[in-house]
Amino acid sequence: MPQSGDAINHYLDREVIIMGIKYLEKQRVFKLDAGQTSYVIGVVDDEGFLGHVYFGKRIPDQYLPVESFLRLNEWPQVPSRNNRERLSFNDAFPTEYSTFGQGDFREACLAVKDAHGHSVCGIKYQSHRIYAGKPRLKGLPATFGSEEETTTLEITCKDEILNLEVVLVYTVFEKFNAITRSVRIRNQSQAPIRLTKALSACVDLNGNDYDIISLHGSWARERHVQRMPVGLGKRVLSSVRGESSHQCNPFMALAARETTEDSGEVYGFCFVYSGNFVGIAEGCQFSTTRVVMGINPEGFEWLLMPEEEFIAPEVIMVYSDQGIGKMTRTFHDLMRGHLIRGQYKDRKRPILINNWEATYFDFNTQKLLDIAREASKLGIEMLVMDDGWFGRRNSDNCSLGDWVVNEDKIQGGLNYLVNEVNKLGMQFGIWFEPEMISPDSDLYRAHPDWCLRVPDRTPCLSRDQYVLDLTRPEVVETVYAMLSNILKSANITYVKWDMNRPLTDVGSAYLPPDRQGEVSHRYMLAVYEMMERLTSDFPHILLENCSGGGGRFDAGMLYYSPQIWCSDDTDAIERLEIQRGTAMVYPLSTMGAHVSDCPNHAVHRTTPFETRGYVALAGTFGYELDVTRIPEEDRALIPSQVALYHRFNDLIRQGDYYRIGSYAENHVYDCWAVVSKDQTEALVTYIQVLHRPSFKNQRVRLKGLNPEYYYKDAETGEVFSGSVLMYGGMTMTGIQGDFKGKLIHLVRVEPEEL
Ligand code: DGJ
Repeated sequence: MPQSGDAINHYLDREVIIMGIKYLEKQRVFKLDAGQTSYVIGVVDDEGFLGHVYFGKRIPDQYLPVESFLRLNEWPQVPSRNNRERLSFNDAFPTEYSTFGQGDFREACLAVKDAHGHSVCGIKYQSHRIYAGKPRLKGLPATFGSEEETTTLEITCKDEILNLEVVLVYTVFEKFNAITRSVRIRNQSQAPIRLTKALSACVDLNGNDYDIISLHGSWARERHVQRMPVGLGKRVLSSVRGESSHQCNPFMALAARETTEDSGEVYGFCFVYSGNFVGIAEGCQFSTTRVVMGINPEGFEWLLMPEEEFIAPEVIMVYSDQGIGKMTRTFHDLMRGHLIRGQYKDRKRPILINNWEATYFDFNTQKLLDIAREASKLGIEMLVMDDGWFGRRNSDNCSLGDWVVNEDKIQGGLNYLVNEVNKLGMQFGIWFEPEMISPDSDLYRAHPDWCLRVPDRTPCLSRDQYVLDLTRPEVVETVYAMLSNILKSANITYVKWDMNRPLTDVGSAYLPPDRQGEVSHRYMLAVYEMMERLTSDFPHILLENCSGGGGRFDAGMLYYSPQIWCSDDTDAIERLEIQRGTAMVYPLSTMGAHVSDCPNHAVHRTTPFETRGYVALAGTFGYELDVTRIPEEDRALIPSQVALYHRFNDLIRQGDYYRIGSYAENHVYDCWAVVSKDQTEALVTYIQVLHRPSFKNQRVRLKGLNPEYYYKDAETGEVFSGSVLMYGGMTMTGIQGDFKGKLIHLVRVEPEEL
């Protein structure tokens, strides 16, 4: 078995096969097999055009119709045979990585400005390497896998005129229908080259008849599912907010028109990045659909000096021929096993109570200890002190950047508070917003040039705060030192890393004029560096990301934090759609979800306490309320909710997730199930949003069970066959009224127990 990084000579006159990747020498074809998926790339013509042959259900190696799949058996043919129509070739060829300026008029992945001011570029195949394992992406989050689990192909291409090397990196996961892509671009010339666009992935899918599925919203309404035809022309998903954003998630799926939750083909693309991004699906003239994804070129430029390299972040591509549900489960398995790291990767998280909705800024040691005392009696395991403990912060108009404990509020100091909480048998967590600076802060008064800004322009305030210029190393050092001092000063085992505004005025007094286009990406690299440092210096700390709710819920962040606060909307009914959309890509174990008080602070709706618990159980689970002041009957339910969490969290965290019904579609109920990998256990959650007489005794067809097995409803003792539950359905009885719900725990029973 070759070691990771061992080059395999590509000129050997035979097939080169390393686990999931083959180079078929005669056909000049790379065949990548990931689980039940194949992805095929061909090299054509003497010049070495790299073309996309196939992506889909696994196919044999023999008799690949490479020529026709690359559209070469028809006019205009390859340039060596028909150079007078080179442009037409470029215009139609399903390229593996599109470049700007020579006749591929579809969306380009790579565009440059060379030393002479020209933008034209074009890359050709040079060589390749295949090796076991998966390389890390320097400074960037990415999936990982051992040499037994993954195989990597690097195809080196070059623009000979520019002397620009472009290495396309593909990794296949042996057990998943998943392939990752990233790109390394190196300037091998003597002159500077400016990248004006450097996307990460390009796939020319066959056909024009796709739907695009994407996740959109706003603050407190994140990741609602949208599905629409791509048609001809471009559908563009993007963020230029400097964060992946509430408005549009860095994910897209292309589904065949007839694809449903449980059947049909779908291609999912997820960008492992947390800043500006673009994802484009382009219905093209010759019955193909081009999909590209990468860093948003708007406002982006990257100056590559001789021998410098740029790395375009990773895109995860997932294929499913069993509907959207299977795509979801592949993303979940991949992220749980090969993206999320740290001690909580496979572990149950402590049930926390966060004081944000309980107190907002109005708290002190006494108040926090009152909450902790009550919470500890009910079985809650951690107190998280949210915004307002530092500087002079009694509202959101000051002190960001002054990460020093406000002892007027935290009387006795942080260590005292943490010790008292620990004495109650609870852990302690703390909130930070490390990337920000308030104009009214000691930090700003000392360093007004430390925020992102453009000379002569007043930067745009949001929530009375500016964004720190993290491209400046001393800013990172200073903020990190403050953070780590606090973390070392007491027994803190959780950090909530918040980010409450997008980036504007993206300019840095630190970088020269010709590098101002790099600020947004350098900012992201600095955030990643800080998070990497935090998680390695404090490996015992559970890091939860947050961005004004779920404005940075993306795969990039999951590399550093195993959970992300899903939304500032904690209303159980609003959360149904938010969590359904989030879980389309991201595992349930990552979705920060809490039970909060009613009327709900975001939408003023009152829902039963039980229902709030059922919905929060589908995420990380915790509380976000003043437990000393909620109605006694609600408080009395907390121990049983805590018990449900302990009983079901292993299943919810590790199981297979099935969407069964959505209120957004049926206007009555939401229903989902989590089924254990061995199909011996399932937890079904049913939430009736609207009680409708016509839906009396609603029968719901379950999913994911084994049709051969028999299951007992753990509560009623009733026994069902798996096939009846899936093909006939389960009748949802005893749910009277709006916003009511129930959990159904099904456990396999052996025939002899029947
Ligand atoms: C936004 C977060 O989503 C909330 O949970 C809370 O931490 C506030 N920020 C604090 O300012």
